[in-house]
Amino acid sequence: MLFSFVNLLYLGAPAFIWNSYRSTLKKSSVPVYGPWYLPTFVRGIIAMIRLGQDEDGFLLSARKVYGPVVYLPWPLDQIFVLEGQAIQNVYNSSASTLSFIPIRISMQGAVFGSPANVIHHSALKDRMFPVHARGLTNVRLDAPIERFVQVVQQRISELAYRVDHCDGCFQMPLVSWVTQTMFEAATIGLFGEEFNARMVATGSRDHFNAFDNCFPLLVSELIPDFLSSLVPPLRSGIRGRQAITKLLADWVADSMPGLEEGVIKDTADIGLSEGFSFMEIGSLLNSDLWALQANAPYVAAWFLLYIMQSPLLPAVQKEIDSLPRDGVSENPLITMKTLASMPLVTSCMHETLRLCTSSFSIRVVEESFVLPTPSSHDQYPQEYLIPGGSRIICATRAAHLTDPIWGPDPATWDGERFLDSKSNTETGGNKLSREVRGFGGGVSICEGRHLASAELKCLLALMLSNFDITPLFPTQGRGPPLTSEASKIGIKGASKTGIAPSRALGRPGLGAFQFDGSDVIVNVTRKATS
Ligand code: HEM
Ligand SMILES: *[C@@H]1O[C@H](CO)[C@@H](O)[C@H](O)[C@H]1NC(C)=O
Ligand SMILES: *[C@@H]1O[C@H](CO)[C@@H](O)[C@H](O)[C@H]1NC(C)=O
Repeated sequence: MLFSFVNLLYLGAPAFIWNSYRSTLKKSSVPVYGPWYLPTFVRGIIAMIRLGQDEDGFLLSARKVYGPVVYLPWPLDQIFVLEGQAIQNVYNSSASTLSFIPIRISMQGAVFGSPANVIHHSALKDRMFPVHARGLTNVRLDAPIERFVQVVQQRISELAYRVDHCDGCFQMPLVSWVTQTMFEAATIGLFGEEFNARMVATGSRDHFNAFDNCFPLLVSELIPDFLSSLVPPLRSGIRGRQAITKLLADWVADSMPGLEEGVIKDTADIGLSEGFSFMEIGSLLNSDLWALQANAPYVAAWFLLYIMQSPLLPAVQKEIDSLPRDGVSENPLITMKTLASMPLVTSCMHETLRLCTSSFSIRVVEESFVLPTPSSHDQYPQEYLIPGGSRIICATRAAHLTDPIWGPDPATWDGERFLDSKSNTETGGNKLSREVRGFGGGVSICEGRHLASAELKCLLALMLSNFDITPLFPTQGRGPPLTSEASKIGIKGASKTGIAPSRALGRPGLGAFQFDGSDVIVNVTRKATS
């Protein structure tokens, strides 16, 4: 009540007055999180702490207590949307009601450190963003995927060599192998060999990780710049960001050796033609590097972990075995086209994204509007009045775990969930798969989703074509002791509970779940030839 009143004063939007006048009886205002007797800022602080400490617990209980929509007061000051249909309605709204570009621009400054003259330059919005979106569509991905495949094949031959030289079996930490391989292959895929070589030579993956670790702090914009050097993770994160930006800047200054064409080159060329400095271009390219690497390597690890421990493994193997062969290497032939022909693998991928991501799609509410929440149960209103001037966050994780469409056991991985006779692999899966929003949605949907999907399927196909991998035991990370539930995953039809490393916490809404340094030791042997 207080909230909508304040916003009313604050904006005085005529449309809002008109709307609320028209239907005060029908449309409900958004409930405010926390016990009513506490001052709103205390309720906001409680929400923020809970979200940071136990994201799932927070989202699930908020959904249960408040329904599909809840307002989290300052310091978050955001309206959370927690239900699939309502999230879809947010995604469907026009940019004049719910905008995203201002958020993308301010993140480029606050998180990636691009200076004001760059983020407010019209070229960003008018030239760079569109070129960027086009550069990552399916038709432009053949070359990056070809480079990606080459690197993965190389790493696989190295692994095969090790297996052959230790009596036919080799134990290794799976997650660390997968994330390292994905990181390198994707860097070469999008930025080319030379840039990757420079990253390796300067130990820049550590810089990347330091930056990535402080991402939640940077994106929250809770710590003002002048204090950032006093907060240790922020200090080293910004140092890491600086090192990567410089590495990118020098590479651009040297005319981007090792990269002939593609989205990275196009983006840098626009920067050059607008007269941006090399460091400014480096700060822009750093956002590409981050988007490329902050999610996909971890999803790849989850993907393998689930499939490996699922009774669907033989069926997945069969699907991979029926890919056309690459005459020279005996490996499956991996192209954007062949990757599109694996319905079970695609279904497993959607299911993995459902369970191992938490994505926040953020919008600025430009003008008040009514958000329909049709599929909520009767105890909650069917529509909510969202006041102009507020901010909305679609919390996809809540929908992924609580929408009734997932059935009675939503936390269990079911790789066949998205498989049906109507499934259409050309358009990326069947109708139910649209309810998975690990890539966000609407105007802010992940531009790299086609590339990411191809990477995931490619790694899986090449691994399973060459090796039998058996999980042995999880290793201890920085988190609570291994006996905790954190290292268990539920897999449909499996005779025992699956094992996984434990999740790193404190990254709410940042996409794929990363790990807390723990891993799963696997036994790798050459694939038994059939
Ligand atoms: C499985 C891996 C990935 C996941 C789960 C993921 C997830 C996401 C999410 C949740 C968003 C924000 C969506 C929203 O606000 O609604 C996003 C944005 C973005 N992603 Fe990804 N992503 C992945 C891989 C990639 C890759 C490989 C690239 C390649 C460069 C990429 C490029 C981008 C870009 C450029 C954006 C920003 C789009 C914008 O601001 O309009 N992503 N991603
Ligand atoms: C959103 O828009 C799409 C395409 O315009 C439409 O197919 C879909 O039904 C809409 N969804 C909702 C929930 O309104
Ligand atoms: C790994 O697999 C090989 C071949 O199946 C087997 O002989 C070996 O005992 C396994 N090692 C462990 C530690 O389970």
